[in-house]
Amino acid sequence: MKLCMIGTGYVGLVSGVCFSDIGNDVICVDRDIKKIDDLKKGIIPIYEPGLDELVIKNYRNKRLKFSTNLKDSIAKSDIVFICVGTPTKKNGNGADLSQIYNAAKEIRSAISKFKIIITKSTVPVTTGDEIEKIISHKVSKKLFSVVSNPEFLREGEAIRDFTYPDRVVIGTNNKKSNKILKNLYSPLISKGAKYVNTSRRAAELIKYASNAFLATKITFINELANLCEKINVNIEDISIGMGLDKRIGGRFLRAGPAYGGSCFPKDTKAITTTADKYKTNLSVIKSVIKSNENRSSLLLERVFNILNGKIKNKKICFLGVTFKANTDDMRDSSSLSMIPSLIKKGAIVNYYDPTGEKDDFKKIKNVNFSINIDSAIKDSNLIIIHTEWNEFKSINFKKKVKNKKFIIFDMRNICSPAKMKELKIKYFGIGC
Ligand SMILES: NC(=O)c1ccc[n+]([C@@H]2O[C@H](COP(=O)([O-])OP(=O)(O)OC[C@H]3O[C@@H](n4cnc5c(N)ncnc54)[C@H](O)[C@@H]3O)[C@@H](O)[C@H]2O)c1
Repeated sequence: MKLCMIGTGYVGLVSGVCFSDIGNDVICVDRDIKKIDDLKKGIIPIYEPGLDELVIKNYRNKRLKFSTNLKDSIAKSDIVFICVGTPTKKNGNGADLSQIYNAAKEIRSAISKFKIIITKSTVPVTTGDEIEKIISHKVSKKLFSVVSNPEFLREGEAIRDFTYPDRVVIGTNNKKSNKILKNLYSPLISKGAKYVNTSRRAAELIKYASNAFLATKITFINELANLCEKINVNIEDISIGMGLDKRIGGRFLRAGPAYGGSCFPKDTKAITTTADKYKTNLSVIKSVIKSNENRSSLLLERVFNILNGKIKNKKICFLGVTFKANTDDMRDSSSLSMIPSLIKKGAIVNYYDPTGEKDDFKKIKNVNFSINIDSAIKDSNLIIIHTEWNEFKSINFKKKVKNKKFIIFDMRNICSPAKMKELKIKYFGIGC
């Protein structure tokens, strides 16, 4: 089938490449000229394991193309996926849908034969109705169908998640569109993905409900970790003991820093704004947002206590600054608030991240990027393991840190407390 992805970011690029890999002709469009030029040269704009090989392979096979010409790309396609950003509005109230509506306006000026227009972006319930209104302003409803097909991939696991999803959700009452999309996804369905056809509004809500539920799970275990720290119980035991219950499940049940990334913070806020609009109080999700917003200050308080209140001139090393491992995405990472707060209190912060230096910290005095783990940790008073990269799991701290009185604060519980005790390293984890 001939597909066009509008927006070549984490979702548009990954899903576009994967669709081309299963035999479709895909044009990935973006308004960012540099991004498209780079992609044509094989330079991948994001860090995502396995993505570069897949892009190069399908670009060479000519099944995958990159373009900045939206009109021309839509004209050549049967199915158009909207994959643009839906960030939180500047005033904090709900999702900013300007990129979605701009894309809809551009689409309507390019329709001359039947197209399926799909929102893969995460959009509040009824956005599909608005898109339909915008397009039908200039184009007959017989020439298009607006469908919701939310994307559930996780950064860092995006290719696997796209290729082997638990479910494919298609929100449409239009039989023709449903048939075409079932056919498009048939290679994934034959590998075990469940195909779920719902109304468009239900599909839009399924995505927000799923993200809000996962954010709730993380926040739940984070709050229990706070209790464990007071009663000498290890939160890891609780996670295992609870997670083995199939009704609960062990995933997203590991205590750590505040959840971040490009989805959970904005999607939890957006769903409560939608509910408020319909005079429904989603009080559980509102508490989750509040608890998560409070988490970084709570962990900073712990850092303060670990250093006996003496932060001034202390050398603090961050291992990992992204919101999770295997991604370069800094959006809403808890390091963005924690590092500046420590600097304000007089600390000197060195950080190492496998995905390189971050623009967010370049202008902050006393924050330095180290090109490898050894130089990042060598003079530290305190080492904070912020992100759970595999390469942090087997560091020989005793050998590599010069300062003999160094302390480790493992915000991901990736080290063994027993081993740390054996090595006589002063070690703190989360919820233990
Ligand atoms: N990142 C994730 O892990 C993830 C997972 C599932 C769903 N989502 C959802 O998918 C959507 C996209 O997220 P993302 O992380 O890929 O965003 P992103 O910011 O990485 O990419 C969006 C891209 O769209 C481009 N764009 C915006 N308007 C355009 C237009 N009119 N024409 C052409 N290009 C345009 C931007 O230049 C940008 O490159 C969001 O709604 C998000 O919530 C994201």
